[in-house]
Formats: sequence, structure tokens, C-alpha cells
Amino acid sequence: MASPSPLVLVFGPYNGDGLAELERRFTVRHQKSRTLEGLSEAERAEVKAVAVAGHLPNETMDALPALEIVGHFGVGYDGVDAAHAAERGVAVTNTPDVLTEEVADTAVALVLMTVRELHHAESHARSGEWERSGPYPLTRFSLRNKEVGIMGLGRIGLAIAHRLEAFGVKIRYHNRSERSDVAYPYDASLEALAEQSDILLIAAPGGPATEKAVNADVLAALGNEGILINIGRGTTVDEPALIEALEQGTIAAAGLDVFADEPRIPERLRALRNTVLLPHVASASRDTRILMGNLVADNLSRWFAGERLETPVPESEKA
Ligand code: DGY
Repeated sequence: MASPSPLVLVFGPYNGDGLAELERRFTVRHQKSRTLEGLSEAERAEVKAVAVAGHLPNETMDALPALEIVGHFGVGYDGVDAAHAAERGVAVTNTPDVLTEEVADTAVALVLMTVRELHHAESHARSGEWERSGPYPLTRFSLRNKEVGIMGLGRIGLAIAHRLEAFGVKIRYHNRSERSDVAYPYDASLEALAEQSDILLIAAPGGPATEKAVNADVLAALGNEGILINIGRGTTVDEPALIEALEQGTIAAAGLDVFADEPRIPERLRALRNTVLLPHVASASRDTRILMGNLVADNLSRWFAGERLETPVPESEKA
């Protein structure tokens, strides 16, 4: 019989509403430092669940002998080694679906900002430059009639595609495999997708299979009028190659919500005018984060009640 109030370790910085929800349901120990420092041997031996947003080292999992389940706050669980967890018999859950619409909205905003330079136009107005030196210059690109190539046509990619169609763009995609339920043209390789696209939009979940997949060749195929948008994972892009391509004009611009080594953004990337940089905010509205926190807690509750998990990781691969 499971304990009525199992010990849940919240590992690292965690959403406040999500933490409060866990505290309502379980005994919680919050290790903000993303270490096990200060946690006694006895407490470590008691931890049955970990709730984490981002990286959970394998050594941490291994230092918790009674660990049964990891609840990942976020749909992309590349920070948790699910194979290692499986080997140890530890279940892993994530938070798909509840953030799909929010992330898709942000992706469209990022596309529009990048294509129409709205961030620079906004500072032109705010700084008084409009009055001092006249209107903001005409932008090089507009969105209509463009071809958008989506890498990763899962739930989020599809929600982005549906939104973008309303802007009169054409959609094509590259995925692990072709989908039989969509009519968009499929490109078997990322390079072919980039070649065909005006805008290459990364919505893939990240992880070893796609690490640095957007490399110098893909960027060259995108071309000097091409725009890269990334709302998936920074590690999917070879960041030094991207910086080089933006500096040299191999591609025209990039709109990025994610980076290879967050929260660090390379100085050279920050110095570039042809970039829009967001601090990983695609799902960051309070409404959505509450839903994500509740889903983490619901999965843990179900686990300890012996019920079927709502969103176990293997079913959640198509972020
Ligand atoms: C996710 O859920 O994977 C997002 O990146 C978090 O905002």
C-alpha cells in the first residue's frame, strides 16, 4: 500500500503555481539549487517522485533508491534520460497538449516579428526616432505567398501550420516519417526542406536524434533570403554555424526562442540586428503554466493511486 503522502522532490527552479499544487497533494522537498545538497541519506531514501523542469542528471536519479516516477514540467523532456529511467524501472511523464496552442501562438508571433522586423519598428517608435528621423524603413520581406517548411510536424507543428495557413503561406514539412493524415508536401531530408522553404521553422522536440541537425549545409540550402525560426530546442541547431550564417548573410534572419546553452546566449548572436531573441517564453503565460503544473501533479496522483498515467513519455514523442 502506497504511503498517503509520498515524498516528492522538486528538483531545480520550478513554477510557483505548480509547486503550490504539488504541496497541496504531497509532502514536498524543494531543491532549488538543482543538487541534492542538504538532503539527508534518510530523506533521499524516501523520495518516491521527482518533479523537474529541464535537466535531471542520471546521477541524481541513481542517488534516489526509492524513486518510482519523474514528472517533467514541459512537453520537451530532452533534459531527462528516459532510457536510463526505463532501465531503472522509473516512469517518466511530460506535459503535452495543454501548451500546444500557447506555443503555436508564440511561434506565429515570432515569425511575424522576424519577417516584418516589428521589434526594431517598436523601438523606432518608442525611442522617438520616428519623430526625429522619419518613418521606419520598408522591410525587406513580407509573409504572404511564402513557403514555410516545418521541421517536426507533431501536435505543436500542426497547430502552427494551421495558424500560418490563414496568412496565405504554403506549408511543407520534414518529420521522422511522413504523416498519412496531412496533405502538406513532405521532404525526406531536412536539407531538401530548407532548399524549398523561405522560412524554416523548427518545432521538433530536441534530443540526441536531432542534435545540431540544422547545420551549415542546411543553412546554406535555406539561402540568403531564408529565415530560420526555432521554438523547439536550441540544441537542434549548430549555433556557431548559425551565427556564421547570420553574420555572412548566408541566411537573412533568425527568430529564436531557444538556445543551445540557456540562459546563456552567445555575445555574437546578441550583437546581430537580423535576429529576434526571446528568453524561452513560448509556453510562458500563467494560464498555460498552471495547466502544465496541474498535469505534472495529476500524473503523480494517478501513479500513487495505482491508476493509468495521463501523459507517460512514450506516447508523447510527437511534440
Ligand atoms: C516545453 O514544454 O518543452 C517548453 O519548451 C517549455 O516552455
